[in-house]
Amino acid sequence: MCESVAVSQLVVRPSGPLSGEVPVGGAKNSALKLMAACVLAEGRYVLRNVPDIADVATMGQLLEAMGMSVRRREDGALEVVRPAVITPEAPYELVERMRASSAVLGPLLAAVGQARVAIPGGDDFGSRPIDMHLSGLESLGATFELTHGMIEGRADRLRGAEVVLDYPSVGATENLLMAGVLASGRTTVQNAAREPEIADLAAFLNRMGARVLGAGSPTITIDGVAELRAVEHTVIPDRIEAATFLAAVAVAGGELTLRGARADHLEILIERMGRMGVRISPEADGIWAMAPARPRATDVATLPYPGLATDHLPLLVAVLSVADGTSYATENVFAGRFRYVGELARMGARVRVDGHHLVIDGVERLSGAPVRAVDIRAGAALVVAALRADGETVVHDAEHVDRGYEGFIDKLRAVGADVERP
Ligand code: EPU
Repeated sequence: MCESVAVSQLVVRPSGPLSGEVPVGGAKNSALKLMAACVLAEGRYVLRNVPDIADVATMGQLLEAMGMSVRRREDGALEVVRPAVITPEAPYELVERMRASSAVLGPLLAAVGQARVAIPGGDDFGSRPIDMHLSGLESLGATFELTHGMIEGRADRLRGAEVVLDYPSVGATENLLMAGVLASGRTTVQNAAREPEIADLAAFLNRMGARVLGAGSPTITIDGVAELRAVEHTVIPDRIEAATFLAAVAVAGGELTLRGARADHLEILIERMGRMGVRISPEADGIWAMAPARPRATDVATLPYPGLATDHLPLLVAVLSVADGTSYATENVFAGRFRYVGELARMGARVRVDGHHLVIDGVERLSGAPVRAVDIRAGAALVVAALRADGETVVHDAEHVDRGYEGFIDKLRAVGADVERP
């Protein structure tokens, strides 16, 4: 199985202007769910464009713990083999390391009729419950018992139902999709999440023989089938990695081409970055961007897709912390997702937290400092901010960045950023 090297520190020095081309890899948040979906049918799967990152290794370990095999082929594709019999259990050690492990709940109930999945705990975003996953699956006939820190689920055969989500949760929509494909009759998910990763999962399931319509819209209709089969699939490009490099060029200045990135998955971000003065243009196979000498202040607020992604906000806050003027940034998706702000403040950013809003007074330059990455995007945002920080920034707990980005440091260095692992 692929392994990523855990490191604990990154050193970043003032950089820019950046220039050149960055290859954008496959979407982490799609790849992880496609791997979970391999639980649904026996056979050999080939997943292309799966990033070689720690979270993919963790999902691989989870599948292996269930009796499946996962290996990286020489051509870079990930091969997953699902035998006839698997152990339907996601142990605490893996769920605790990566919340996306709970994506196996729906496929296990659909394919095996039972699931034992550790209850995901809190994390740096706050409590992050999975109540909508459970109540949605209950509507399809599953029953749950929560004992000794485990969710014990059962379902003889799931049956289609209409599920109305209170909120368009990405994880709940995905679990319902993966459960509904093998349920008897029709499942309708109303107020479904519309993220591109949902459409990618539906495309994968349809290749397997499922009948899913409407993924990417608020209403998804799933006509259950009796059987699915293993297939090959290519993962969509990572819109958060693309946004990270757009933020990097906005902070450091210069001109970049993001090879493979899809502008149609990044519309609001591109519009907001345009207001900051970054010129961005879609190309046949990617996105071109050119930064102004200094970005301009603008207001941003996160919302479920097609709104501005919560994963983009820390990166935009890094840009706005060096922008000309005052910006307001609002986080509407995850209540507690501002822990990186204190770290940016250590670098001289003038950011005030007011409930779920930030008031950011842009400064001309930041000042390098020791800081700590509290999660994947926070870590990436600190690296981005450090490109315009005088002196040296040491990002501690940088293994978080490796959970989400393949070759982040090499890609940054290749376009002229002064970043290294000490
Ligand atoms: N929520 C509930 N109950 C539920 C499910 C969600 O209250 O049963 C709440 C959450 O607490 C949160 C909101 O609904 O406040 C949105 O959560 P959602 O379920 O949409 O997010 P997720 O599936 O847990 C995925 C990504 C996140 C990304 C969010 C939002 C994966 C593995 N994770 O999380 O990505 O921020 O969608 O787009 O797909 C990352 O990549 O670093 C990352 C955190």
